[in-house]
This record gives sequence, structure tokens and C-alpha cells, in this order.
Amino acid sequence: MSAAMNSDAEKPVRKVVITVAGLGTRFLPATKATPKEMLPVVDKPAIQYVVEEAVSAGLEDVLFVTGRNKQSLENHFDRAWELEAALEQKGDQQRLDRVRQSQVLGDIHYVRQGDPRGLGHAVLCGARHVGDEPFAVMLGDDLIDPRDALLAPMLEVQQRYGGSVVALIEVDPSQVSLYGCAAVRPGDTDDVVEVTDLVEKPDPADAPSNLAIIGRYVLHPAVFDVLRETPPGRGGEIQITDALKTLAGMPAEAGGGVRAIVFRGRRYDTGDRQDYLRTTVQLACERSDLGPDFRAWLREFVAALPPEDTR
Ligand code: G1P
Repeated sequence: MSAAMNSDAEKPVRKVVITVAGLGTRFLPATKATPKEMLPVVDKPAIQYVVEEAVSAGLEDVLFVTGRNKQSLENHFDRAWELEAALEQKGDQQRLDRVRQSQVLGDIHYVRQGDPRGLGHAVLCGARHVGDEPFAVMLGDDLIDPRDALLAPMLEVQQRYGGSVVALIEVDPSQVSLYGCAAVRPGDTDDVVEVTDLVEKPDPADAPSNLAIIGRYVLHPAVFDVLRETPPGRGGEIQITDALKTLAGMPAEAGGGVRAIVFRGRRYDTGDRQDYLRTTVQLACERSDLGPDFRAWLREFVAALPPEDTR
């Protein structure tokens, strides 16, 4: 394992790999020509929340791992000269600021995944850009409420202990087959546990726990060599969960060890239609500009719903 050295643990985390190569089949036909990450949540594309989260945790070097049909995402984080000129001419500073909001976020890079060979393979596509330092991985489907910090504490854990760090949530045991699932033992503190085993999307009967991995990772660069050796797993895809299982069994000197933060804050899964709708309503209610009117309408709307759904 060439990338594995103790000193890597001390390098600060500066880079984040955001995987956006998925096809978004759950949202067809909306995602036939539009990337799922560009679907709006209130008035921003879902992916903008994710990049804002990265930047506010201090990660300003963003690498998107993209695929076909993601050009609108690239345009979103680029200048929009004609739009800016038109708004400037009208003197519409407020909208101009909103347009520019996504352009000043971080230092953005792109690499194409080519073959859709799984999340582990997508992360491996970032190897050259990341180099020999710990880095974060974020999945575009997961939104973490900005009031409930997750990435920043994960970065602190990685800097304190080295190795890799995942984020877990407790789910109903019937839901565990939708996620990577972790077996853990207590760590030094209540919030940080040690991961002893991982299984990608287990049948509930075989699941080692009801702790599910969500889309935030801080990884030791040793993961790249591990991923190169990881055979296709669940669904015939190269799974990051399988690579993490290997890392969990490796010694710290070789870049091994996986810890987890058990996250109890608000997380929204915008990759699921029901959750996407809930997210939009929830975030709209909390907005200071839209919230008061929207909440008033929502109260009336809910009051007028029939007690049982008879439709
Ligand atoms: C991926 C991972 C899985 C993880 C999930 C979190 O699955 O493979 O381990 O629990 O993200 O959202 P996906 O949802 O892409 O199928």
C-alpha cells in the first residue's frame, strides 16, 4: 500500500470529492435531460446546498465526479455573462447576487467517470486530483441541515485519530437494506464510535446493526490502493463500503482504522421522491422571506385535507 503513511493523518483536509454521475432514474421523467442534482429545493438546485456545506466546513477545493448529461451542473457553478449583463442593466442587484452566489463557491474541478462502475469507482476517479492527503466525499442526494453540523466534526475526528471517518444514522431495521450498514464498538467519547465491520445493503436478517451510512465520508488516501484491489460487490459495482471494510481491518500505520459519528441531526434524502417533497416543504417553511406566507397557506391547506385519504 504505497499511499499509506502515518503522517498523512496530520495533513489537513482541503479537498472534497462530490459524486454526481448517477442517472437519477427514481425521478424520471424529470431527470431525462436534467441531472437529478439540479432539481430545485425551494429556489436552489440540491447540489448547491451540498457545495455550500463543504465550503462552510472549510473545504474549498471541490472535485465533481460527473457523467454524461451533467453540463447544466457545470454551467451552474460557472459565470453566466448574458444573464448577469441583463440583470445589471435592469439594476436588479438582488437577483444578480443570487446568480453569483453559486459562482463564488470554492475552486471547482471536474472529472468524468466514464463507465458507471459504482460509488467506489467514482471515488477512485478522484485519485489523481486528491493525491496523497485525506479528503472528504459527499453524495449529492444527502442534504444536511446547516444548523446541525456534521462535516466539521467528522474532519476534527479524522485530524485527531487519522484513518477514515463515516457518518451513521439509526434507521428502522426494515430500512437497513437501502444503505451500507456498520457494526461498531464504543470509542473514546459517546459521539465517536469505532467501526468493526461494514456490509453494503444487507438483508435486514443479516444486518450487523441498524446503523446506516449516510453520504458524508472523510477518507484516508490509502483508500485509493484498497479500491484498486476491491472486486465488484453488491449490484456488480465497486462499493466504497467494501473498501471501508478492508480499511477497518488494516493497522493505523497503513492508513487503516474507521471511526464514525452517529448523527442525530436533520438529514434530507433528496434522491427519494417522498423525502424530496418533505425537504422542499420543510426548508420553505423555515425561510425568512418565503416562510411566513407559505406556512399560513400550508396551515389552511392541511386543515382542509379530508381526515382520511379516500382518493
Ligand atoms: C450509497 C452507498 C451506501 C450509503 C448510501 C447513503 O448508496 O453505497 O452505502 O448508505 O449511498 O446515501 P446509494 O444510495 O447510492 O445506492
